[in-house]
Amino acid sequence: MALQLGDIAPDFEADTTEGRIRFHEWLGDSWGILFSHPKDFTPVCTTELGEVARLKGEFDRRNTKVIGLSVDSVESHREWSEDIKETQGQTLNYPLIGDPSHAVADLYDMIHPNALETLTVRSVFIIGPDKKIKLTITYPASTGRNFDEIIRALDSLQLTAKYSVSTPVNWNDGGDVIIAPAISDEDAKTAFPKGFTVLKPYLRMTPQPNK
Ligand code: BEZ
Repeated sequence: MALQLGDIAPDFEADTTEGRIRFHEWLGDSWGILFSHPKDFTPVCTTELGEVARLKGEFDRRNTKVIGLSVDSVESHREWSEDIKETQGQTLNYPLIGDPSHAVADLYDMIHPNALETLTVRSVFIIGPDKKIKLTITYPASTGRNFDEIIRALDSLQLTAKYSVSTPVNWNDGGDVIIAPAISDEDAKTAFPKGFTVLKPYLRMTPQPNK
Protein backbone atom coordinates (compact mmCIF):
# COMPACT_ATOMS: atom_id res chain seq x y z
CA MET A 1 0.00 0.00 0.00
CA ALA A 2 1.23 3.49 -0.80
CA LEU A 3 2.59 5.61 2.01
CA GLN A 4 -0.03 7.67 3.78
CA LEU A 5 -0.10 10.80 5.90
CA GLY A 6 0.93 9.96 9.45
CA ASP A 7 3.09 6.99 8.40
CA ILE A 8 6.73 6.97 9.45
CA ALA A 9 8.83 7.98 6.42
CA PRO A 10 10.82 4.83 5.60
CA ASP A 11 14.49 5.01 6.53
CA PHE A 12 17.14 4.09 3.95
CA GLU A 13 20.82 4.33 3.18
CA ALA A 14 21.80 5.88 -0.16
CA ASP A 15 24.56 7.57 -2.14
CA THR A 16 24.04 11.27 -2.74
CA THR A 17 25.96 14.13 -4.33
CA GLU A 18 27.05 14.97 -0.76
CA GLY A 19 28.15 11.44 0.17
CA ARG A 20 26.43 8.39 1.60
CA ILE A 21 23.61 9.09 4.05
CA ARG A 22 21.25 7.27 6.37
CA PHE A 23 18.05 9.21 5.82
CA HIS A 24 16.72 9.49 9.40
CA GLU A 25 20.16 10.30 10.75
CA TRP A 26 20.61 12.93 8.03
CA LEU A 27 17.24 14.50 8.91
CA GLY A 28 18.16 14.74 12.60
CA ASP A 29 15.65 16.99 14.39
CA SER A 30 14.83 18.97 11.24
CA TRP A 31 11.79 18.95 9.03
CA GLY A 32 12.54 17.35 5.67
CA ILE A 33 11.41 17.50 2.06
CA LEU A 34 12.18 14.50 -0.11
CA PHE A 35 11.27 15.12 -3.75
CA SER A 36 11.78 13.13 -6.91
CA HIS A 37 12.23 14.27 -10.50
CA PRO A 38 11.94 12.00 -13.55
CA LYS A 39 15.32 12.35 -15.20
CA ASP A 40 18.56 14.31 -15.30
CA PHE A 41 19.27 16.42 -18.39
CA THR A 42 15.56 17.11 -19.02
CA PRO A 43 14.02 20.57 -19.31
CA VAL A 44 11.37 20.87 -16.59
CA CYS A 45 13.59 19.12 -14.04
CA THR A 46 16.43 21.53 -14.79
CA THR A 47 14.20 24.52 -13.95
CA GLU A 48 12.80 22.86 -10.81
CA LEU A 49 16.16 21.92 -9.34
CA GLY A 50 17.48 25.42 -9.97
CA GLU A 51 14.47 26.88 -8.18
CA VAL A 52 14.96 24.65 -5.12
CA ALA A 53 18.58 25.86 -4.96
CA ARG A 54 17.36 29.47 -5.18
CA LEU A 55 14.92 28.84 -2.31
CA LYS A 56 17.45 27.05 -0.05
CA GLY A 57 17.59 30.02 2.36
CA GLU A 58 13.79 29.84 2.78
CA PHE A 59 14.02 26.14 3.67
CA ASP A 60 16.91 26.82 6.09
CA ARG A 61 14.86 29.53 7.81
CA ARG A 62 12.16 26.92 8.37
CA ASN A 63 14.61 24.36 9.82
CA THR A 64 13.89 22.14 6.81
CA LYS A 65 16.37 20.00 4.89
CA VAL A 66 15.67 19.33 1.20
CA ILE A 67 16.87 16.33 -0.77
CA GLY A 68 16.14 15.34 -4.38
CA LEU A 69 16.10 11.95 -6.08
CA SER A 70 15.95 10.34 -9.48
CA VAL A 71 16.89 6.94 -10.85
CA ASP A 72 20.05 8.46 -12.38
CA SER A 73 23.46 7.97 -10.79
CA VAL A 74 25.24 10.41 -8.50
CA GLU A 75 27.82 10.89 -11.27
CA SER A 76 25.05 11.90 -13.68
CA HIS A 77 23.61 14.32 -11.09
CA ARG A 78 27.05 15.91 -10.71
CA GLU A 79 27.47 16.38 -14.48
CA TRP A 80 23.93 17.75 -14.82
CA SER A 81 24.50 20.25 -12.00
CA GLU A 82 26.82 22.13 -14.39
CA ASP A 83 23.85 22.67 -16.73
CA ILE A 84 21.68 23.81 -13.82
CA LYS A 85 24.34 26.34 -12.94
CA GLU A 86 24.73 27.49 -16.53
CA THR A 87 21.02 27.79 -17.40
CA GLN A 88 19.40 28.64 -14.03
CA GLY A 89 22.30 30.55 -12.44
CA GLN A 90 22.11 28.31 -9.36
CA THR A 91 24.73 26.06 -7.82
CA LEU A 92 23.27 22.85 -6.42
CA ASN A 93 23.33 23.48 -2.64
CA TYR A 94 21.41 20.43 -1.40
CA PRO A 95 21.98 16.70 -1.94
CA LEU A 96 20.58 14.61 -4.79
CA ILE A 97 20.14 10.87 -4.23
CA GLY A 98 21.37 8.58 -7.00
CA ASP A 99 18.90 5.70 -7.17
CA PRO A 100 19.66 3.56 -10.27
CA SER A 101 18.50 0.42 -8.43
CA HIS A 102 15.12 2.11 -7.70
CA ALA A 103 15.51 1.05 -4.05
CA VAL A 104 14.36 4.38 -2.58
CA ALA A 105 11.91 5.10 -5.42
CA ASP A 106 10.19 1.76 -4.71
CA LEU A 107 10.19 2.35 -0.96
CA TYR A 108 8.35 5.65 -1.52
CA ASP A 109 6.23 4.44 -4.45
CA MET A 110 7.65 7.16 -6.72
CA ILE A 111 7.43 5.12 -9.92
CA HIS A 112 3.91 5.09 -11.38
CA PRO A 113 4.26 2.72 -14.35
CA ASN A 114 1.01 3.81 -16.00
CA ALA A 115 2.39 7.36 -16.20
CA LEU A 116 6.14 6.77 -16.69
CA GLU A 117 7.27 3.20 -17.01
CA THR A 118 10.64 3.24 -15.28
CA LEU A 119 11.17 6.83 -14.13
CA THR A 120 10.06 8.57 -10.96
CA VAL A 121 7.16 11.01 -11.21
CA ARG A 122 7.35 14.37 -9.42
CA SER A 123 6.68 13.24 -5.84
CA VAL A 124 7.00 15.46 -2.77
CA PHE A 125 7.06 14.21 0.81
CA ILE A 126 7.14 16.69 3.68
CA ILE A 127 8.38 14.94 6.81
CA GLY A 128 8.12 16.28 10.38
CA PRO A 129 10.81 16.14 13.07
CA ASP A 130 8.97 13.05 14.40
CA LYS A 131 9.81 11.39 11.01
CA LYS A 132 6.12 11.15 10.12
CA ILE A 133 4.84 12.06 6.66
CA LYS A 134 2.88 15.32 6.93
CA LEU A 135 2.10 15.98 3.26
CA THR A 136 2.43 14.30 -0.11
CA ILE A 137 2.02 15.78 -3.58
CA THR A 138 2.38 14.03 -6.93
CA TYR A 139 2.77 15.84 -10.25
CA PRO A 140 3.28 14.31 -13.69
CA ALA A 141 6.49 14.79 -15.66
CA SER A 142 4.97 17.48 -17.90
CA THR A 143 4.00 19.82 -15.04
CA GLY A 144 6.69 21.61 -13.07
CA ARG A 145 5.90 22.12 -9.41
CA ASN A 146 5.31 25.46 -7.70
CA PHE A 147 7.82 25.46 -4.85
CA ASP A 148 6.29 28.65 -3.41
CA GLU A 149 3.18 26.53 -2.77
CA ILE A 150 5.31 23.88 -1.10
CA ILE A 151 6.78 26.55 1.20
CA ARG A 152 3.26 27.89 1.87
CA ALA A 153 2.10 24.39 2.86
CA LEU A 154 5.23 23.93 5.01
CA ASP A 155 4.39 27.18 6.84
CA SER A 156 0.89 25.86 7.50
CA LEU A 157 2.19 22.48 8.71
CA GLN A 158 4.68 24.11 11.07
CA LEU A 159 2.11 26.59 12.41
CA THR A 160 -0.63 24.01 12.96
CA ALA A 161 1.86 21.65 14.67
CA LYS A 162 2.46 24.35 17.28
CA TYR A 163 -0.94 26.00 17.78
CA SER A 164 -4.54 24.70 17.90
CA VAL A 165 -5.40 26.29 14.58
CA SER A 166 -5.90 25.38 10.95
CA THR A 167 -5.29 27.54 7.89
CA PRO A 168 -8.08 28.58 5.51
CA VAL A 169 -8.24 28.51 1.74
CA ASN A 170 -5.42 30.43 0.01
CA TRP A 171 -3.83 31.26 3.38
CA ASN A 172 -0.35 32.71 3.36
CA ASP A 173 2.01 33.30 6.26
CA GLY A 174 0.69 36.28 8.22
CA GLY A 175 -2.97 35.75 7.31
CA ASP A 176 -5.80 35.07 9.75
CA VAL A 177 -6.25 31.45 10.85
CA ILE A 178 -9.10 29.26 12.11
CA ILE A 179 -9.39 28.23 15.76
CA ALA A 180 -9.73 24.46 16.20
CA PRO A 181 -13.37 23.51 16.88
CA ALA A 182 -12.27 21.50 19.95
CA ILE A 183 -11.28 24.74 21.75
CA SER A 184 -14.17 26.34 23.66
CA ASP A 185 -14.84 30.09 23.31
CA GLU A 186 -13.74 30.45 26.94
CA ASP A 187 -10.40 28.71 26.35
CA ALA A 188 -9.93 30.56 23.06
CA LYS A 189 -10.00 33.90 24.94
CA THR A 190 -6.86 32.83 26.84
CA ALA A 191 -5.17 30.94 23.99
CA PHE A 192 -5.70 33.71 21.43
CA PRO A 193 -5.30 37.02 23.31
CA LYS A 194 -5.46 39.04 20.06
CA GLY A 195 -9.15 38.11 19.99
CA PHE A 196 -11.29 36.26 17.48
CA THR A 197 -14.30 36.73 15.26
CA VAL A 198 -17.14 34.21 15.37
CA LEU A 199 -18.57 33.78 11.84
CA LYS A 200 -20.24 30.50 12.85
CA PRO A 201 -19.73 28.50 16.05
CA TYR A 202 -17.43 26.21 14.01
CA LEU A 203 -15.71 29.02 12.08
CA ARG A 204 -13.79 31.38 14.36
CA MET A 205 -11.02 33.51 12.85
CA THR A 206 -8.05 34.90 14.75
CA PRO A 207 -4.85 36.70 13.76
CA GLN A 208 -1.92 34.34 13.25
CA PRO A 209 -0.74 33.68 16.84
CA ASN A 210 3.03 33.84 16.23
CA LYS A 211 3.04 37.16 14.32
C1 BEZ B 1 11.22 17.21 -18.10
O1 BEZ B 1 11.82 17.46 -17.07
O2 BEZ B 1 10.98 18.08 -18.92
C2 BEZ B 1 10.75 15.80 -18.40
C3 BEZ B 1 11.33 14.71 -17.77
C4 BEZ B 1 10.91 13.44 -18.07
C5 BEZ B 1 9.88 13.24 -18.98
C6 BEZ B 1 9.27 14.35 -19.58
C7 BEZ B 1 9.71 15.62 -19.28
